[in-house]
Amino acid sequence: MLARTVSNVFRGWAGMYVCICNRITDQQVRAAALSGASRPAEVYPACGCAAQCGTCAITMRHLIYEQASRIAAAD
Ligand code: FES
Repeated sequence: MLARTVSNVFRGWAGMYVCICNRITDQQVRAAALSGASRPAEVYPACGCAAQCGTCAITMRHLIYEQASRIAAAD
């Protein structure tokens, strides 16, 4: 029962918010990285916005690096 409930909750899960100012999720950052964004300054426009407070930049860099590492490992 619990597994089914959790499954239903996460089925439509859009991701964790990384940027509160612009409501950008980790999924969006990963997608931007897959599309070629290599730094946060390239993620914001890819998501149709601009940097506000910049607090999310460190987490974005981590996610971009993580995505790049996954791509490199797959090659
Ligand atoms: S949290 Fe991303 S710009 Fe403020």
